[in-house]
Amino acid sequence: MANRIFSGVQPTGQLHLGNYLGAIRNFVALQGDYECLYCMVDMHAITMWQDPKELTQATRTVAASFLAAGLDPKRNIIFNQSRVPAHAELAWIFNCVARLGWLNRMTQFKEKAGKQRENASVGLYAYPVLMAADILVYKATHVPVGEDQKQHLELTRDIAQKFNHDFGVEFFPITEPIIQGEATRVMSLRDGTKKMSKSDPSDYSRINLTDGPDQIADKIRKARTDPHPLPETIEELEKRPEADNLVGIYAALDDITRHQVLHHFGGKLFSDFKAQLIDLAVARLGPIGTEMQRLVKDPDHIDGVLANGAERAAAMAAPILREAKRIVGFLGA
Ligand code: AMP
Ligand code: TRP
Repeated sequence: MANRIFSGVQPTGQLHLGNYLGAIRNFVALQGDYECLYCMVDMHAITMWQDPKELTQATRTVAASFLAAGLDPKRNIIFNQSRVPAHAELAWIFNCVARLGWLNRMTQFKEKAGKQRENASVGLYAYPVLMAADILVYKATHVPVGEDQKQHLELTRDIAQKFNHDFGVEFFPITEPIIQGEATRVMSLRDGTKKMSKSDPSDYSRINLTDGPDQIADKIRKARTDPHPLPETIEELEKRPEADNLVGIYAALDDITRHQVLHHFGGKLFSDFKAQLIDLAVARLGPIGTEMQRLVKDPDHIDGVLANGAERAAAMAAPILREAKRIVGFLGA
């Protein structure tokens, strides 16, 4: 089977350095080698409350970040999920394939639902099933994501396997995750044990893709570190979460390994290292932020890209969904 890539980003809140290094940057690297679909997953977004106007705007902003980071809308299919109903239709079939016991193990649901489990939406619980449908409705073979999505991708494999087994077919592929680079799990700048996230109340915890040079510099300068100079070995680095995070970010932004970063900065003061990291981050992220600001001023252009992407995505999904329905025994498929 030909290789095909699918990945999604939720249009909620501010896109940050974690989204960029863990996901978007890899999307750009993979275009050309594969047939790629990149999606604003607005149906996933509403599993938690979203203000309707902000959801529309955030969908455009995520699209703008994809384009600004270098994704070519001709070579790739860029669209928003809710426009292609095949995702929701296949998700229903998968709701009947996935088991409650599997979903009960999902750590992201536990984190997001928190103590208010009874009050979480049914959609939040079924979230990983919709994610499996996103991927398999195109028979995608590879999915580039950050480390936090690993468990969801294992569930996608389980669903594909159970569908194939239950119906005695070899229909859905067993999808491979692509979790690559030196920053597959970027941590908060305020707390090296917490993931950098859109929902952290402190803006100082993350670098947003739209932050200007002064904000980037300020946030890196204030980033938490321990009082010691930078370690000389990876072994020592791994015992110091804040140092490890910053070194990982440097390595990813400069396309080198952590080991090479330590070779250069081991034994030096954090103030020296941070000054270099600021220059590097501004050089890499500045142009993306500027281009995003320019693109969001032209919503008609973005809307056109998404409409075109949705049309191409729908055409690709249609025969696969039809066949899945036929396999299940739905009359008229
Ligand atoms: P989300 O914002 O949850 O829709 O995530 C979009 C993509 O960014 C997914 O592939 C995530 O795995 C990735 N991602 C989100 N946060 C981080 C992080 N802190 N470090 C690395 N990757 C991340
Ligand atoms: N759950 C992913 C996240 O929050 C977003 C997502 C939805 C996704 N569907 C997907 C990622 C399909 C990869 C493939 O990051």
